[in-house]
Amino acid sequence: MTMSLSDKQPTENESLKRSREKQKKEDAWKPDGPKDLFSMLDSLPESKQQEIQKALHLFSLGPTLPKTLQQAKKHTYRFWETQPVPRLGDSVETHGPIVEGEASVRMEPYSLPQGFSWDTLDLSNPSVLKEICTLLNENYMEEDDNTMRFEFSSVYLQWALQPPNWLAQWHCGVRVDSNKKLVGFIAALPADVRIYETDKRMVQVKFLCVHKKLRLKRMTPVLIRELTRRVNQQGVFQAVYTAALVLPTPLSSCRYWHRPLNLRKLMELSYPGLKQNLSLQRAVKFNRLPDVTKTPGLRRMTEEDAAGVHSLLQANLGKFHLSPMLSLREVEHWLLPRENVIDTYVVQGDDGTLTDMVSFYSVSYRVLNHPVHTDLRSAHLLYVTSTATDPVDLMEDTLVLAQTKRFDIFFALNVMDNQSFLENLKFSISDKSLHYYLYNWMCPTMSPDKVGLVLPN
Ligand SMILES: CC(C)(COP(=O)(O)OP(=O)(O)OC[C@H]1O[C@@H](n2cnc3c(N)ncnc32)[C@H](O)[C@@H]1OP(=O)(O)O)[C@@H](O)C(=O)NCCC(=O)NCCS
Repeated sequence: MTMSLSDKQPTENESLKRSREKQKKEDAWKPDGPKDLFSMLDSLPESKQQEIQKALHLFSLGPTLPKTLQQAKKHTYRFWETQPVPRLGDSVETHGPIVEGEASVRMEPYSLPQGFSWDTLDLSNPSVLKEICTLLNENYMEEDDNTMRFEFSSVYLQWALQPPNWLAQWHCGVRVDSNKKLVGFIAALPADVRIYETDKRMVQVKFLCVHKKLRLKRMTPVLIRELTRRVNQQGVFQAVYTAALVLPTPLSSCRYWHRPLNLRKLMELSYPGLKQNLSLQRAVKFNRLPDVTKTPGLRRMTEEDAAGVHSLLQANLGKFHLSPMLSLREVEHWLLPRENVIDTYVVQGDDGTLTDMVSFYSVSYRVLNHPVHTDLRSAHLLYVTSTATDPVDLMEDTLVLAQTKRFDIFFALNVMDNQSFLENLKFSISDKSLHYYLYNWMCPTMSPDKVGLVLPN
């Protein structure tokens, strides 16, 4: 009897070989040599990594830094307790620096673990800019369950990191010595800020990011210490920063509100915080916006408007307890429209003067492993000031403009006078808080409506 190839029974040796090959296939993601958990995870396909992260999130096994004041009171802040920041629970009535900094500023950089080095990142070099984009886009995660990631572009980062008087040494990177890979980043930008009655030259600290593989290894305190040293070297001893986490000690705790623009897409993405009790059809109807704007004289800001916008902002922002003191050049930098980065509109009265302004910046996300959608475009309210137009009308027009520009969702914080239009315009409160902090400055806390400062990512 002859046997076909497929009928042939494998010999013992062949079975062993096949089972080894099968095992080898299954183990393909494991590295040779000593097993490092982070590199094992990293070598998994993106979809597998996402599944694991979702499971960890579900069972709350991920890193747990405090997100509420109650959790914070039970947490030991090994690093932050050594820093000049108010203690959690202290009630502060005085105003001023916590430590006087001028005495001595350390000359030598802080030491990094062996195998890592500091690098001052030169943003005028396109390949360096690309490296920062890659680090942030792969590691600056938005949702804990890793369903979406930021998609920062080079032009966005130039806007966010290079305002007037920016300093290269405040774009502080950490590289791996062996392959020069960028694995850590933190930035400071110069800013003049008014806190209650005091005008202070300080920095805004932004884009703190550590590569996923190097998390929970205390890299953050070293980044913060080194950046502080570099800022101190320039005679600046205060900073303002925001975080979703509760650290010692929030100056103000604000909430994000969001307003759907492309409701169908958001529902398909199961975007958190959408009204659950409405059918798609009813929800679309409920959120429908007018097709066109209604404010006469509303138009895009141009270079000629900078001085007018500057005056409008100065007059408005001065009434809050925490506000930026923007120069004309800074107004030009932060507000002049740039495609897919920042949009600003002004209202011009019949006599030619500007009466109102509104601006929002653009943050894009990459949607991971969704059958239909690959991206999400969000608009974030920066500043709105109105002296002639009803704020609700002006903001409704802003939503119309954002929708026309194909944004999917509009975010606003409950800072400044924003509360006056949020509910009227069908924004929903999200579960995301944003806490404001000051470094080396003591002053009473403030409610969100006294905060006049927004720090774009
Ligand atoms: C934020 C991030 C750098 C923290 O890294 P990590 O590996 O979890 O933490 P590390 O082991 O390096 O350092 C832990 C210390 O940093 C502090 N820390 C963590 N996140 C912080 C933040 N966003 N701002 C300030 N301090 C922070 C912790 O409180 C802790 O100090 P403590 O002992 O006083 O509590 C990292 O999670 C990351 O890159 N996340 C994505 C980007 C991001 O969310 N950036 C922050 C934007 S505000």
